[in-house]
Amino acid sequence: MVKGPERKSIIMAVGGGKGGVGKSFVMASLGMSLARQGRVVMIDGDLGGANLHNFLGISRPTSTLTDFFERKVPLADLVVDSGISNLGLLTGMVGTIGAETIKHAQKQKLFNQIRKLDADYILIDLGAGTHFNTIDTLLIADKMIIVITPEIVSIENMYNFLRNLYFRRLGGVLTDHGYRDLVVNTWHDRDALGISNFRELVDCLKAVSPEVRLIIEEELRDFAVNLVLNKARTNQDIVTGNSVKSICVKFFGVNALYSGYVEHDDLVSRSANHRTPYLSAYPNSRCSRGIERLTVNILSGQQVKVTR
Ligand SMILES: Nc1ncnc2c1ncn2[C@@H]1O[C@H](COP(=O)(O)OP(=O)(O)OP(=O)(O)O)[C@@H](O)[C@H]1O
Ligand SMILES: [Mg+2]
Repeated sequence: MVKGPERKSIIMAVGGGKGGVGKSFVMASLGMSLARQGRVVMIDGDLGGANLHNFLGISRPTSTLTDFFERKVPLADLVVDSGISNLGLLTGMVGTIGAETIKHAQKQKLFNQIRKLDADYILIDLGAGTHFNTIDTLLIADKMIIVITPEIVSIENMYNFLRNLYFRRLGGVLTDHGYRDLVVNTWHDRDALGISNFRELVDCLKAVSPEVRLIIEEELRDFAVNLVLNKARTNQDIVTGNSVKSICVKFFGVNALYSGYVEHDDLVSRSANHRTPYLSAYPNSRCSRGIERLTVNILSGQQVKVTR
């Protein structure tokens, strides 16, 4: 169903993050939590390895995004009932199509139709990796979510993703204002310009002219990512989220919000294997309570308060 003019959806998307950090689990659970407040449509945009349905406790739907790309079926017609009240699912298709195969025009059409879906909340789960189609999809979201685990590989991976995300946004904004290639060229000359991190790149760009400064300040004022630390086992793990946030602000100049942490629970995998949605099977577990707090924080822009 396509929405009437009165309904304004909030789009949330998860991207980046190493494979296996829990993006799909976190998004599925967030979707279930939000479905208590309004109509949710979840989009499994992990085109190469869609598995969101497992966390919602259903088998793979037969209508998928492939029907949109290859048979031109309108997106709204592909949303299937998940069996969970107020929650519809639009799934990807394993193996046939990857983020890298989507053409520009298809992508724009997809984004237009996503924005018109009849829902209060539209949640998009994306695969790992930094392909620009993945990044562009994340950039259409009102709430960009990045999931990490308290492991160095996951955190380094996330910094790399964030760099790509911000770079693309900055490049896009300046190109739209007639400064094509300014970001790429400045970054290319970074050694000569004495730029050692992303924050310094932004400072250098702002010094190009008062107009460029204004564009960056106005267009990127609201640019913020929501960090979620998943599979936390100790208090030290939880505190790690704070350090990551500080580094994002210091070296990237990116407004990173530490939106929440979700504790590790072996029952998460077991529930997916048994096709039982974790959040409804274990609503009072510490992990589920983490998801509920996360939902509130993402909607309100609040952050985790942790002490060592
Ligand atoms: N909080 C958690 N506690 C325990 N296990 C978890 C938790 N979150 C996710 N998992 C498990 O980790 C594995 C990976 O989760 P998931 O598929 O959500 O990751 P992903 O980031 O979406 O991976 P991919 O990049 O491959 O799509 C799954 O087996 C899942 O059950
Ligand atoms: Mg996934």
